[in-house]
Order: sequence, then structure tokens, then C-alpha cells
Amino acid sequence: MKYVIGNWKANKNHTESANWIETFQGEFSPNEQVTLVICPPFPFLSLVRNALKGFPQVFIGAQNVSLFEEGSYTGEVTAKTLKEIVSFAIIGHSERRKNFHETDEELTRKVQLAKKYNLEPIYCVRDEKDPIPAGVTFVAYEPVAAIGTGQNEPPEKVIEMKKKMHLPDNCVFIYGGSVNETNISSYLQTGEIDGFLVGKASLDAHQFLAMAKAATK
Ligand code: PGA
Repeated sequence: MKYVIGNWKANKNHTESANWIETFQGEFSPNEQVTLVICPPFPFLSLVRNALKGFPQVFIGAQNVSLFEEGSYTGEVTAKTLKEIVSFAIIGHSERRKNFHETDEELTRKVQLAKKYNLEPIYCVRDEKDPIPAGVTFVAYEPVAAIGTGQNEPPEKVIEMKKKMHLPDNCVFIYGGSVNETNISSYLQTGEIDGFLVGKASLDAHQFLAMAKAATK
């Protein structure tokens, strides 16, 4: 099984999300070898989920979960709130580590809360030095220099890093950083990479589906 995970980040409004869904619905062809996870901003999680309910192998993910379980934390979105809407949660993205100063301890807590409410964490690390909390199965290696720059890290380098990392047993190893429909096959050819976390190229439904298609080959 291969995974193609689309992280929309802080992009798209309601109209743009609806357009993306429409294109996806028109062009999606199910394939048992690929699981797709779509991670829109919080306000559109239900929209995307309801529109794509019943599409085989298509799941919804959150881009973050709160550090708090529930209660008086204005503006926070908790794992408990998310659990009926999403199946996955991205945790530890380098943009959150950098811009919101998320620490390893906080990220461990987030993983625990996600697991408590049956969300599968997609845990992002920048290199082998970022510790991976217990209970994580999906590990996304995302070298900072490759994110959003068009400078994807060559597959050989990704595999070198994979060897250095202390990955959990039965790990689903994901690469992220400027993956697109053109370069995705070079990673797949290695047989060492189980999936992709895709930012920019996931914003276009055609491109997202082209990557899904590439992953079936
Ligand atoms: P990118 O983002 O595909 O735009 O490089 C990847 C990510 O940050 O997950």
C-alpha cells in the first residue's frame, strides 16, 4: 500500500475547496494500491469528508491537534473534537515547530491525545535528531530545505537518512518536500518509500490525482 497525503496548509477558501472537490469527484478512479489522505484547513474538514464519503481508500486528516484534551481553551481544536471527522492527524510539521515553537514534549502529548481518540498520527521529523514518540507508525521525513522550495531531496539522500533514523517497527515511511507528479516516480522506484506528504502540488486536484496514479505503478 502506498500513501499520498495532501497537506493544503493555510490555503484555500470555501469556494476554492469546493472547486477542488468537484475536480476530484470528476476524475478520481479508485485503486486498491493507494490510500489518499486529504488534509484541508479545519473549517473545510467536514465539507471534504462529506463530499468524499464512500470514495474507497480516501481519508481525511487534520493538519494539527490541540495540546489540550478539552475545556476552556478558546480557539483550540482537540483530538476529541476531530475524532468523528478525520482519521489522520499531521503532528510535528516543521512549520509548526518553527512558527509556533512546538517542542518535542508537546508533540509527544499531541501524539498521545491523537491515539487516545483513534486518530493516526502522521509524525513529521526534519532529520534523524528529532525523536519519534512511542505509538507512532507513520513517520514523515521532511528536510526543511526541500519544503516548498522546489528543491526536492534526491531519493538516495532520503534513503541514507532513513537508515540513520530510529524508526518504529512496521513503520510507514513517508517522504515530503517538493514532491510532484514529475519526481514522485524516482522515489517509488527505490521500493523504500511508502508514501508522500505533499504540500504545494496537492492544491491542484489534477496534480494530486496524477500523483495518486503514479503511485499505483
Ligand atoms: P511542499 O510541502 O510539497 O510544498 O514542499 C510539503 C510539506 O510541507 O508537507
